[in-house]
Amino acid sequence: MSFVDGTIILKSKDEIEKLRKSNIIVAEILEKIESIVRPGITTIDMEKICESELKRRKAKSAFKNYRGYPYNLCVSVNDEVVHGMPSKRILKDGDIVSLDFGALYDGFYGDAAVTVPVGNISNKATKLIETTRTALERAIDVTRTGNRLQDISAAVQSTAEDVGFSVVRAFVGHGIGRNLHESPQVPNFGMPGKGLRLKVGMVLAIEPMVNAGGSDVRIMDDGWTAVTKDGSLSAHFEHSVAITSNGPYVLSRL
Ligand code: MF3
Ligand code: CO
Repeated sequence: MSFVDGTIILKSKDEIEKLRKSNIIVAEILEKIESIVRPGITTIDMEKICESELKRRKAKSAFKNYRGYPYNLCVSVNDEVVHGMPSKRILKDGDIVSLDFGALYDGFYGDAAVTVPVGNISNKATKLIETTRTALERAIDVTRTGNRLQDISAAVQSTAEDVGFSVVRAFVGHGIGRNLHESPQVPNFGMPGKGLRLKVGMVLAIEPMVNAGGSDVRIMDDGWTAVTKDGSLSAHFEHSVAITSNGPYVLSRL
């Protein structure tokens, strides 16, 4: 049973276990896609695997037809920030590729993202990926009762800015449950100690998007793909995290 706290839908233990199932599906499929990333593969190859893996598990796509988005997977290469669309584009050595994937199973959504290297990448690209991964881990560490929402935001922001990178402000993380996007929004910038109090039963999709250059983004003519305005590289990691009495429970971690 769910109950509403303000506009935020808190989840019971049973509901969190259902969210866990959906998120395990997401994590397993992401792991599979990650394992095939190499120079020469096309991004539509990955989309096809997502589609068949969802079918095999009797799960539905979280993204396909969401606000008209036409694919199961978001795949964003190099300066693409988020919502890149699968295509005949061939990945090449030195690219970085962000894979964002979601599933609906037994009434609940799962959502996660990773950025992975294609072959050998530059030191700067490696640092960007590692910084964004660390930003997510530090954010997860503070996703617990006693803290406030912007402690999560500030953890992401400081991790990125301390090494001279910037956080994207145009997109945010979100609550997740029977809907892909629920309250509250989870920005990647903010002030420690500000925002709503974190409570047991909140489930948040925390998703740092970090640019090697400036924070500004623009949407391409396809109406979906967000790219950095200055052409700099961008990385994206996401986990769906439940707040329990024992601290953060990373639902999308295998
Ligand atoms: N994980 C992203 C999000 O939470 C992707 C969803 S957008 C979609 O916003 F349209 F592709 F579904
Ligand atoms: Co998300």
